[in-house]
Amino acid sequence: GFSWKLLDHPKLPKGKTVAVVVLDGWGEANPNQYNCIHVAETPTMDSLKTGAPERWRLVRAHGTAVGLPSEDDMGNSEVGHNALGAGRIFAQGAKLVDIALASGKIYEGEGFKYIKECFETGTLHLIGLLSDGGVHSRLDQLQLLLKGASERGAKRIRVHILTDGRDVLDGSSVGFVETLENDLENLRQKGIDAKIASGGGRMYVTMDRYENDWNVVKRGWDAQVLGEAPHKFTSGIEAIKKLRAEPKANDQYLPPFVIVDENGKPVGPIVDGDAVVTFNFRADRMVMIAKALEYENFDKFDRVRYPKIHYAGMLEYDGELKLPSHYLVSPPEIDRTSGEYLVHNGIRTFACSETVKFGHVTFFWNGNRSGYFNSEIEEYVEVPSDSGITFNVQPKMKALQIAEKARDAILSKKFDQVRVNLPNSDMVGHTGDIEATIVACKAADDAVKMILDAIEQVGGIYVVTADHGNAEDMVKRDKSGKPLLDKNGNIQILTSHTLQPVPIAIGGPGLSAGVKFRNDLPNGGLANVAATVMNFHGFEAPSDYEPTLIEVVDN
Ligand code: 3PG
Ligand code: CO
Repeated sequence: GFSWKLLDHPKLPKGKTVAVVVLDGWGEANPNQYNCIHVAETPTMDSLKTGAPERWRLVRAHGTAVGLPSEDDMGNSEVGHNALGAGRIFAQGAKLVDIALASGKIYEGEGFKYIKECFETGTLHLIGLLSDGGVHSRLDQLQLLLKGASERGAKRIRVHILTDGRDVLDGSSVGFVETLENDLENLRQKGIDAKIASGGGRMYVTMDRYENDWNVVKRGWDAQVLGEAPHKFTSGIEAIKKLRAEPKANDQYLPPFVIVDENGKPVGPIVDGDAVVTFNFRADRMVMIAKALEYENFDKFDRVRYPKIHYAGMLEYDGELKLPSHYLVSPPEIDRTSGEYLVHNGIRTFACSETVKFGHVTFFWNGNRSGYFNSEIEEYVEVPSDSGITFNVQPKMKALQIAEKARDAILSKKFDQVRVNLPNSDMVGHTGDIEATIVACKAADDAVKMILDAIEQVGGIYVVTADHGNAEDMVKRDKSGKPLLDKNGNIQILTSHTLQPVPIAIGGPGLSAGVKFRNDLPNGGLANVAATVMNFHGFEAPSDYEPTLIEVVDN
């Protein structure tokens, strides 16, 4: 029968303290002025790279290596941490939705049937991120859903859009809204009353995460449900163009707006008897709105009106909370993660990050599962993130505090594994502020140094890697790699993640002399890291895990 017991590694000892450091958004790319990691002073990461060549390599962190549909899909922190923790590659959100849409299975599921019950007399509302970024949602999936729902009886449809500019270029919202308007026009020609009803920028409206700022969700609620917002327009296109023309406006932070008819009445508030689908597949930024839409008792803000609706998520957003209770596509079932195995084998585990990435190094790492496996030997520490600012204002973020917590955990000798995520290069990279991102990369490097110094002191082992690229390339490029310019001749800033591989470095006084990276896994990816870490704790990985990156040669 099944057993949690891991086999002993034939050569590697137990009892070493292992630090696992994930630099968020830290990829490897050509050294040039738009590579903030290269420009920044990063002596610690540099020394790992130029140190022992058999203990530094690159691993794949995008596309099929992390369960995404194709090699054009950049990595992201959710799938990256899933792969790091699970040690295997699971088909992920976007891919599951693609499969369900292509086969039509999505329309046969319980979730769609539940939504459909409202089509006769109610409106179908679709709320989500309007872009082709593929991290949280995809425009083509929304298009298919609009088509599929209208063919299956939805007569009145309202789309509540959230503009992106974070996983895609700033300014691209205009094109996405045009495409959507065009599709809605085609539906109207077929006699379906289909319109954009409200909108706003993703970082200011609706898509907050980890309960950082409920005001963000409230702004969305007011526009989407109550039909109230400071800005009113007669079409989605007009809204985006006018709001973007304001000084300093950008897609991520557009203010909330509602679309009104010729009498100034909102065209699509959510009312009793309506159906609502949040069409993002990624969970982290949907949990809060899902709670507002689903929970009868709710005190995070005054909802004013709580309509009786049939609500479904594109996916289930929290497996522990069973939230929402209805969804269109079933989630990947990530079982037997490395964290769960190691805890069953007595590995005392400490995990830490600041709020914006805390869930990544715990929930996502543990296969989308919240809480401890065994609270007696685990401790998860969340350092509160700065809130109410964009991270280019405080690019050092909480790197120092996270490193101090990790250092203390290592020196305490109370833990076998000390795992952290350092968010700087990703969170500041997303702002598109190159100067600030350079400061961010240095701050992350300083934090790595503090953790490695502690490992040195206790005779431990370190694994330093990243979840996907971001700060190593801050400019949009053409096919040949040349920076693209906008119509004013300025470079087009790349705020998104990248397709680049990420480094992984291993070492520390506790690492046996014969340990080196094997040469027979040139396409190794993030999913190979779990088996590697298990080895450093003195165990063999389960046989169905992606193979370890290391071998132990006898000296
Ligand atoms: C976000 O949600 O901030 C970005 O779309 C992706 O960020 P992450 O994958 O690095 O968390
Ligand atoms: Co990111």
